[in-house]
Amino acid sequence: MPASPRWLLAAALLLGSLPALAQTPAPPVPAGSPPVPRAWKTGEEAAAIERRIDALLAQMTLEEKVGQLNLWGRGDEFRLEWVEQGRTGAVMNFVSPMEVRAIQLRAARSRMRIPAIIALDAINGFATYMPQPLGQAATFNPRLVELASYWSAREARAVGINWTFAPMIDMTRDARWGRVMEGAGEDVHLASILAAARTVGYHRGGLATSAKHYIGYGEAEGGRDYNSVWIPVSKLWDYHMPPFQASLAAGAFTVMTSLSAMNGIASTADRHLVAEVLKGQLGFRGFVVSDFESVKELIAHGQAADGPDAVRRAFGAGIDMDMMAGLYDAHLAQLVRSGAISEAAVNESVRRVLRVKMHMGLFEEATYDPALAQRDLGTAEARQASLEIAREAVILLKNENAILPLKPSVRSVAVIGSLATHQADWQYTENAGLPRVISPRLTDALAAILESRVRVTAAAGFATHCSLAAGDTAGAVATARAADVAVVMLGEDCEQYGEGTSRAHLDLPAHQQALLDAIIATGKPVVVIMHTSRPFVLTRFIDRVAAVIQAFHLGTEGRTALAEVLAGRTNPSGKLPMTMPRATGQVPIYYDRLPTGRPRLKDFRYETGYLDEKLEPLFPFGFGLSFSRFTFDQLTLSSPTVPRTGTVAGSVRLTNAAGPAGQEVVQVYVRQRVGQRSRPVRQLKHFEKVAVAPGSSQTVTFRIPVQALGYHDDAGRYVVEPGEYDIFVGGDSNATLAARVTVTE
Ligand code: NOJ
Repeated sequence: MPASPRWLLAAALLLGSLPALAQTPAPPVPAGSPPVPRAWKTGEEAAAIERRIDALLAQMTLEEKVGQLNLWGRGDEFRLEWVEQGRTGAVMNFVSPMEVRAIQLRAARSRMRIPAIIALDAINGFATYMPQPLGQAATFNPRLVELASYWSAREARAVGINWTFAPMIDMTRDARWGRVMEGAGEDVHLASILAAARTVGYHRGGLATSAKHYIGYGEAEGGRDYNSVWIPVSKLWDYHMPPFQASLAAGAFTVMTSLSAMNGIASTADRHLVAEVLKGQLGFRGFVVSDFESVKELIAHGQAADGPDAVRRAFGAGIDMDMMAGLYDAHLAQLVRSGAISEAAVNESVRRVLRVKMHMGLFEEATYDPALAQRDLGTAEARQASLEIAREAVILLKNENAILPLKPSVRSVAVIGSLATHQADWQYTENAGLPRVISPRLTDALAAILESRVRVTAAAGFATHCSLAAGDTAGAVATARAADVAVVMLGEDCEQYGEGTSRAHLDLPAHQQALLDAIIATGKPVVVIMHTSRPFVLTRFIDRVAAVIQAFHLGTEGRTALAEVLAGRTNPSGKLPMTMPRATGQVPIYYDRLPTGRPRLKDFRYETGYLDEKLEPLFPFGFGLSFSRFTFDQLTLSSPTVPRTGTVAGSVRLTNAAGPAGQEVVQVYVRQRVGQRSRPVRQLKHFEKVAVAPGSSQTVTFRIPVQALGYHDDAGRYVVEPGEYDIFVGGDSNATLAARVTVTE
């Protein structure tokens, strides 16, 4: 069997199916300084590490042990001397090469000479930005997602970072939550495969990973960040656990708990889920780190009376490392001396930290060379990777009368909106004197691609791309009037996405809608680019514009990719990783819902629905247009019956019926017709991105193990029931081409 990427094996192990792109080669190791890949060692090497840890533990004082469990970072309190004093096992948020080197040298001068882990939220880039993870997910292409993590890691490595607080693999169905951009969207099958791909990508690029946030953070009530989460056992195991299991199977080194509380227990105090499930049942060998000050926040959660009590609860739950609260530093040794916490338990946590450091190879690693930063940041290869990923992340939602790609008859294009006309991306290098990587303006990218006879003009429309407050609307209108087509880029930027950016309204903010209305009123055909970090509600304008492109922050080369799509040089193939609602009031909205006893059949009152809005979303999960017209037919299953231990094997014909060469994501959904519990109306169980030449067809095969069709009951037992299952195949979650298979005992 040809070598497969490790994420693929991990995901296959977990999901019992080999997903798309099985034979995709690993990304080539680029020139420059090759990263040290991070991977768990096995066999005698692993056994030798445990003996080495025994020897170290035997020499360490209690204070030195506690030191390994502290994660300090840039801030008022922290002093570099603490590293030398053995008072910290890891540090975070240092991005200046000289500082990183100083930290390493000080660790080397500490009595035990234990190297420090150096951490950062290297999520989708450091200097060169890859698309945000939600944008990566839109590619439905695990190879590209792995590549994005690889480059994010590799650039962070260039400044000496060795641990990333990523991948964020929280599941969510609620676009009001500002962190949906850090995850892979609403579908657990896609998210699990991508969790493994991201984990492996970071490791290949030289960073250890932290699968986060364990667990359930994405279910915050009302989309309000940090808020309560209620998840029944069956849903926990069917929906929230699989990405974590996939990341662990792919070798995640650490796991971060969540800032939230699930079912009334703060994640950082959840002994059952951390100590018993994660470390026990799932056999996790690495260490568990709290989230930022989440040990201290146990007091605010009302689950600890004071600092020592918070330490008792968090440490007792199995949290090995305290991020930034300073409470382990302040109280843990004393709690051991008073007998409240055993030294054996401390030894066990220190063992986990040292184990990670040794399996990462930190003890053998040469001191970081700051010259790497100048050489390895912002390389042409990183930019090329960013472009390759961005191309496949562009989602075309509407294209009336095939206005895109722009026709030769178009002689002038007005690009409106400061999101399109500003230059730089935010990046870590900004304040560290490191090479910066500048993202082109959409106008420049478009002008470079279109022939010179097409005039590309620009108007910012807003005050700045960060505030997006109203700017020169009249100027923008005049610019649109003077052009054949207006391309309007709207959305959110800067402080409007990520942690702490919940939204109660998913419509365009008023001044953006006003600008768009003014441009539409010119009567020119309008192409809208939604440059957002989450699905927005497009209902107020979708019928009045010619085309809509959804771009989930596509990174440094995102605007180049968008220009390529506008000009027809790239045929879009991105698909929605989240359902797009018609109204904020529909949220949470997702395709794999349970059936109701009163489905919407006759459009009458006593059926599920809204008085004031349709039930269906605006665009379903998995949706995305292409310049090609794809059709599906000839769905066949190799057998009408399959035993519970067997595999559903089938094939479908995919045809590129019109248009240029393109790629389509073949999506296979399954529904169990009758079960002991209601089963989702359909669930994605297989996908594959397939390139098809113009006018030609391909037979695409799929194999889904019956074992992947089960569910958990509320006792946490996994069951696969015999009976009839419907299979739907198509290019989105509304796929109608269907077949039926019976699973026998
Ligand atoms: C808090 C966030 O929740 C977490 O995801 C992040 O890694 C830490 N801050 C560190 O920046």
